[in-house]
Formats: sequence, C-alpha cells, structure tokens
Amino acid sequence: MPYRVNIELFQMLKRHISLFYGSISVKRGLHALWCWSAGLFETPDKSRVRLAQAVNEHFSDGAVFAFGSARSSLAACLKATGIGPGDEVLLSAYTCLAVPIGVIASGAKPIYMDINPDTLNVETADVIAALTPKTKAVVVQHTLGKPAPIQQIVAALKGRGIVVIEDCALALGSQINGLYTGTFGDAAIFSMELSKTLSSGWGGILLVNNPKLEQDVKMLYKSLPEAGALSSLRDLLQTVISAWCSQAVFSNLLGKYIMAAGFKSHVFRSSTPKAEFDGHISPRFMVKMGRAQLALAVLQWENLKLIAADCVSNANIIRATLHRLDIPTPGVPNANEIAVAPRVSFLVANRQFCQTFFSAKGIELGQWFNGPLSPVPRSRLFNYFPGKYPAAEKVAARVVNLPCHGRLSQADLAHVVASLETLAKKQSSNLYFD
Ligand SMILES: Cc1ncc(COP(=O)(O)O)c(C=O)c1O
Repeated sequence: MPYRVNIELFQMLKRHISLFYGSISVKRGLHALWCWSAGLFETPDKSRVRLAQAVNEHFSDGAVFAFGSARSSLAACLKATGIGPGDEVLLSAYTCLAVPIGVIASGAKPIYMDINPDTLNVETADVIAALTPKTKAVVVQHTLGKPAPIQQIVAALKGRGIVVIEDCALALGSQINGLYTGTFGDAAIFSMELSKTLSSGWGGILLVNNPKLEQDVKMLYKSLPEAGALSSLRDLLQTVISAWCSQAVFSNLLGKYIMAAGFKSHVFRSSTPKAEFDGHISPRFMVKMGRAQLALAVLQWENLKLIAADCVSNANIIRATLHRLDIPTPGVPNANEIAVAPRVSFLVANRQFCQTFFSAKGIELGQWFNGPLSPVPRSRLFNYFPGKYPAAEKVAARVVNLPCHGRLSQADLAHVVASLETLAKKQSSNLYFD
C-alpha cells in the first residue's frame, strides 16, 4: 500500500506534457493582461483594427472579422450570405461537433461527405457527388494541418453559385505552393480556442476573400453584440492560469487540483456548452470577440511564423519516428505543402492501452477525431447517421495524436520519441494492426 501511494505521489509530482495551451507562453499571457489594461480606455474598434492589421500581415487580401469562436464565425458567414432554413451545407464527416453547430445556428442543414482515409480530407469527386439543388455552401476542412484539394474544389464549383468556406481551425499556417490555406475560398474560418495552433483562449476569425460577401458580412457584424467585458476577462484569466498549470514542473499536481477546482466552481468554462451537444444554440452564440481576447489574439498573430515553425519542426521529428517504426500516419503533407497543427496523428491497434501507456510517461495522447463526428451527436438536428461514412469511421476508431506544439522543449520531444520507440519495441501487439 505505501509503495502504491508513493508511485501515485511520484506520478502527480511529474511534469505532464499536455496537448492543450500549446501556443500560450505564460509571459505572453501576462503581456496580454497588461495590453488589455492599457487599452481599457480605447474603443474596442481600435483593438479590432489592430487585430485585423496583425492578421493581414499574413492574409493581406482578406477582410478580417473577429468572433467569440470559429463556429460562430461560420454561422455568421452563412447567415450573411443569406443561407438558412431549407438550404444544405456540405461538411466533412470527419470533424468536430462544433462545425455542424455553426451550420445549425444559421438554420441550414448539415450534409456530410466521407473522407480519403490517407489524407483525412474530402476529395473533389466527393463534393461533386454530394451536391443537390439545395446545396448553398461547402465547408472545406483542412484536417489537422493537412491541406485539402481546395484549388480543385474551388475550380469545380466555379459558376454554380456555391459559397466555399475553408475550415482552417486546425490548419492555421498550413500552405500549398507557398500560399496559406484560407486564401483560396470565398471565406475561411480560424479557431483561436485553447487547444489550437494559435490560441487566445477562445475566439474565431472569419477571413472574407470575396468582396461581395465582405459587404454582407460587414452589415451583419455591425449589428452583433460584443462578448461581455467580465466574461472576456474571465476567459483570459482562465487561459493564463491553465497555461501556467500545464507548463509548470508539477503540472500533473496543479492540473489535478487548480484546474479541477476552476471547473468545479464554474469559474472555468469548457468550449462547448452542454446544450450545444443537443444542437441548442444560445442567444449569445454569435458575438464579437471580447477585448481581453483581442489583446492576446494580436500578440499571437504577431508570432504566427514562430509558433507555426515550432509545430512544423516538432511534427517532422515525430513523423520521422513514426515512419521509421512503420506506424501508419494519415495526413502527411505532400512536397508542395506545409502542414501546421498542434498535434500529429497516427493509427494504433489498441487506443485505450496506448493512452494509458503514454499517460504513465507523463504524455497526453489525444483522440481527434474519434467520432468520426466527435463526439457523436445525440440530436437529429445534426442529421448525422453512424454507419454512413465508412472511411471516416475506420480512421476514427484507431486514431490518436501526440502533441507537437511549440511548448515542447527539446527534452520533451526526445521523451516523446523515446516513448514511441519503447511502445513499438515492447508493446507491438497494442500498436500494430493488420
Ligand atoms: C475542424 C474544426 N473546425 C471548427 C472548430 C470550431 O472551433 P471553435 O471551438 O473556435 O468554435 C473546431 C473545434 O475544435 C474544429 O476542430
């Protein structure tokens, strides 16, 4: 018994390599708090202009609109275009529940397309096959950093009056032939939620490349409320505290108590309110990004190149190990592409075992997307029927992800690689499958 207690104590005192808060240094979080307090007496519009300038450093041709989340920026884009009840919006079946929530919030119906299991993305032929006279928009998701065949999809849909929205929530900084994903469609959404490449705790950016659509979005945006000042500050504080907890030497211990206390006392909040799992959209769903998030978002966008480069170099090292160990790794970028994501995905035989294995080594192993619509929705509003998307479901049953974000130190990275090697050597039956 004392031996067991000692082991548990040792585990708790160990550093834990988290999948979350990967782009937020505590220093930058505190800097954001400083910028927020310094900007208290300026108009929120001024902060928004500053954010737009930071985004336009990378996406010079688009109009930038900052929202409380990426899902609400998707809903706003659809609504501004006049898409709503009776219309259909095409989505990848291999995605997060937040995407159809954005469609449901606009009043339109989500329709899913199966994926190519090697790329985790939809193919042009799948899009064409799913079109009906009711299709008014297609959301092209660049899954976990891997660019989708967006140029071919845009070319195939030209002249059909269908809005193409790139979902770059998990591909912020990815490139095709030197051009960022997000620059090819009529519009693009980026998530700045706490698990993403570039986080401000919460937040979403809508980038509009189509000038006609820009005017429509401008009109709608003007009419929207801003996130409340207190809730915005609370979100920033949660972000800074969580980032500190997840990076500290005793992160396992802090995570267990401080984070748990934050959630239990309802001071901390999760990204998806419970009601959204049933497709219920709150009246405050579509809000402009709050001031405190704007302060951190500006600092994050100013550091995009550095943050993305860290993700890419860490991912390359992990992918090289996966390749050497002959572990199936979907979503590998082609020679003309750069894939930027905070996680690297691979497929395993026994996911539960692998999670326990990595957890014992202080490494969080993720399950994006394990649904394939993750989590599988309870409500018919989602129009999602398990069994209809075999490729996505096959991947979803086996997929796991390791962190590759910029908060990993060289020692963390070496530990991740060594752990993979041990798994392959000592637990091959739990890793490899036929
Ligand atoms: C692919 C994808 N798109 C969009 C979103 C929505 O992002 P947000 O949480 O900012 O609404 C997510 C959320 O995880 C996502 O994984």
